Amino acid sequence: MIDLRSDTVTRPTPGMLAAMTKASVGDDVYGDDETVNAFERRVASLFGKEAGLFTATGSQANQLALRVLVNQGEELLADEKAHVVRAELGAAAVLSGITTRTFSSKNSILDAESAFALAAPDAGPYLVSTKAIAVENTHNFGGGIIQPMAEIEKLHRMASSAGIALHLDGARIWNAHIETKVPFSEYGKYFETISLCFSKGLGAPIGSMLLSSQERIASARTWRKRFGGGMRQVGLLAAAAEYGLDHHLSRLATDHKHARILAEAIAEVDVNLVNLDSVQTNIVGIDLMGISLSASEVATRLKADGILTGPLGPKYLRLVTHGDLNEEEIHVAREKIVALLTSSK
Ligand SMILES: Cc1ncc(COP(=O)(O)O)c(C=O)c1O
Repeated sequence: MIDLRSDTVTRPTPGMLAAMTKASVGDDVYGDDETVNAFERRVASLFGKEAGLFTATGSQANQLALRVLVNQGEELLADEKAHVVRAELGAAAVLSGITTRTFSSKNSILDAESAFALAAPDAGPYLVSTKAIAVENTHNFGGGIIQPMAEIEKLHRMASSAGIALHLDGARIWNAHIETKVPFSEYGKYFETISLCFSKGLGAPIGSMLLSSQERIASARTWRKRFGGGMRQVGLLAAAAEYGLDHHLSRLATDHKHARILAEAIAEVDVNLVNLDSVQTNIVGIDLMGISLSASEVATRLKADGILTGPLGPKYLRLVTHGDLNEEEIHVAREKIVALLTSSK
């Protein structure tokens, strides 16, 4: 099977497994795991933040961020296709009593003015007060697009003067960095909290991190335990994540090249199938409006042909490239996808 469903499907490499077996570990709930402690310090300093907290998942890191930024009955603003809104199953409401309003953005690209237009800071006793705005970079359901730094900077200026914090869902910030070379520390300047995933393009089996100030991370540590996320000899996982950061970061450029190969071939079938401007990293979003089949029918037929894809909407199919796919497999997938789309027009 050539698996294009997600960049989370990778298996740990022999080097990563070796790093895990060599890790010195301790009980992290007691603060004894030096591998995770050192890794939290290292990643926090990379992003110019004071402290880090290793978490089981990106969703957990996002939800801990929201928990420490927004009180019960207060509000988070986010893009309508944000992972925190669409794919975390209402966790902000269920776990933290947070209400959410969404703004729309063309092609999921942040527009600071329209995001901030919804904000109601210190709204008093009649309206819900906005406490945080989430930005996703790269944007998953936006097809892996990279958010413009100028808009981030502008949103930060407007939000901070209103006492509103920014949260970065940086599950794939690594991909944005590889394309733009924007230093990680630049993000630390604008975002009060940052969530990161090592389990996507970097290839770790498990592991994410929340970054923020010492004070917020201390609070998030308490909430992590309360949410059932206190882990024990977690250095094993931190070692895998650190190996991914050290050895798999630069290879993300290959994933981006592979996504481009797929996208350009699909656009040749019909330019309306894929917005090439949006294919900036390792995700290709396909709009099947001009095709007689639904996304799940396309996925079923491709599966029978050895290609796994992600039908994420009635007419939306997602392809994600990652480190377990080589160029030959990408070309095989390209041929099969192009053949099916051409015959289904
Ligand atoms: C943008 C974004 N944020 C957060 C997550 C959540 O990560 P996890 O699956 O580890 O909870 C994902 C997962 O795909 C994601 O794409």
